[in-house]
Amino acid sequence: MQIHDLYFEECLSEDTILKRVTELAGQLNHDYTDKEPIFVCILNGSFMFFSDLLKHINLSCETSFLRVNSYENTSSSGNIKEILGLEINLENRHVIIIEDIVETGHTMQFLIQKLSELKAASVSYCTLLFKPDAYLYSAKIDYVGFEISNLFVVGYGLDYNEKGRNLSSIYVKID
Ligand code: IMP
Ligand code: MG
Repeated sequence: MQIHDLYFEECLSEDTILKRVTELAGQLNHDYTDKEPIFVCILNGSFMFFSDLLKHINLSCETSFLRVNSYENTSSSGNIKEILGLEINLENRHVIIIEDIVETGHTMQFLIQKLSELKAASVSYCTLLFKPDAYLYSAKIDYVGFEISNLFVVGYGLDYNEKGRNLSSIYVKID
């Protein structure tokens, strides 16, 4: 499959993704019983994961949306800009950040620090994808859907210069 100038092949099918997403929701249902958590969706890439995950959350909970951007073409710039702010008071609340992918970890560090400053009772991180070979920090990530190799992926919310977000499976760049 071609997107712009690059070629991709499927690496995680829709079935595989949805099975794992359901498992993650089960873990969160267990870990956040009676905690009334706030799920924070990191836009744009996490919209599909967030939606599928939240359908399987059976807790009393709230949702919020935050937009950050640190990516240009196919590499992380490390220069994170907050674009669209939270419109919810996080003080003394249990916050679960829902992210599409952790690569270098810069975005994760930025967000955990930022939301902790808002005096949340706890902040945890749940990412669908994790590239351990690109990760620059030592902090363990609370919830990880899949560990993948350090290659560029698209689909299921993730884009290549804004294309490919609508794909229901995840595709990896091939040479
Ligand atoms: P990090 O700050 O380097 O961890 O990068 C995190 C952000 O970069 C993610 O939220 C994605 O938006 C984007 N990103 C990282 N890897 C990929 C990829 O393989 N495909 C598409 N976007 C990616
Ligand atoms: Mg993202």
